Amino acid sequence: MKTILASKNDIDAAADLLKQGELVAFPTETVYGLGAVSTDVDAVKKIFIAKGRPSDNPLIVHVADMDGVRSVASVVDDRAELLFSRFSPGPLTLILPKRPEVPYEVTAGLETVGVRIPDHPVTLELLKKVGIGVAAPSANTSSRVSPSRAMDVLEDMDGKIPMIIDGGNCRVGIESTVLDLTKEVPVILRPGAITEEMLLEVLPEVKTFKGEIKVAEAPGMKYKHYAPTVPCYLVKSTAAAHDFIAAHPDSEVAVLARTKFFEEFGKGVDLGADLIEFERNIYSALRDSEKNFDVILIEYPEEQGVGKSILNRIIKSSAGKIIGD
Ligand code: TXA
Ligand code: MG
Repeated sequence: MKTILASKNDIDAAADLLKQGELVAFPTETVYGLGAVSTDVDAVKKIFIAKGRPSDNPLIVHVADMDGVRSVASVVDDRAELLFSRFSPGPLTLILPKRPEVPYEVTAGLETVGVRIPDHPVTLELLKKVGIGVAAPSANTSSRVSPSRAMDVLEDMDGKIPMIIDGGNCRVGIESTVLDLTKEVPVILRPGAITEEMLLEVLPEVKTFKGEIKVAEAPGMKYKHYAPTVPCYLVKSTAAAHDFIAAHPDSEVAVLARTKFFEEFGKGVDLGADLIEFERNIYSALRDSEKNFDVILIEYPEEQGVGKSILNRIIKSSAGKIIGD
């Protein structure tokens, strides 16, 4: 199959492809998504094949507005209304009871569904044109680093899907916060740019999911994720990074760090000035570095605000390997 790299001028063609049961990759503010019309079971199955994704990992349904939310969720309580009005369009996915129209292929057999209104003008227009929720995971091959640029999607999906809409580099850079609202006290299943502190501005109480995944609570959390193709470590200090490089003279070592830390090395990727830029640039930096280096060291961010969300991803990228103290 030939994969067309399309632009915002091709939204009509993209909507037609989706309505015909084909897959289209599209930009969002978090990462690129790989979409299929959520009520089309055959199209949804193609997502799992293109990604090599286990079928017990549910998909998020993307909609343009609150009518869209109500078309997939059977209960939209006051908390959901409040959260969507405060944070959407934006990087927040709510887990709500599903309507019967949402097939179990989307929810991996669960009675709940993840719903989100992405904050990207091209995709909001696409979703309006399609008029039905679009199920979409991140547009990477399963277990690989999620794509924050169209070229990253092309790398994984070339020849597997008919169209990728190039909407530029993703503004946020890591996947949405997933919040389970089916519990009395809402539970953060996956931390993201909407932090616990921000959620507590509108909710009296929030829990963060910790510990082992035994049941299908947040199925995606039990799989290998965000892994570059070369060994990766988190590093807590410049001294520890210097020691590591000195101990590995035959390896090309990339340092992925914010400017102050990066300047000491100059090899790898300067992730920017602050945690927001760190979050925005980390996935593209991982994808670029795995091609040119033997080992990747990532600066260990402070465990506050989005630092915790970044850490949630890069701990998986590094399989928990940490150097320095
Ligand atoms: O930012 C994002 O959320 C991106 C863009 C494309 O929207 N999408 C994304 O999808 O990251 P994916 O499939 O890579 O991750 C979806 C996560 C998984 O961890 C999955 O287990 C969880 O959401 N999830 C989806 N539906 C669920 C449900 N009904 N109950 C519990 N967890 C669910
Ligand atoms: Mg993903």
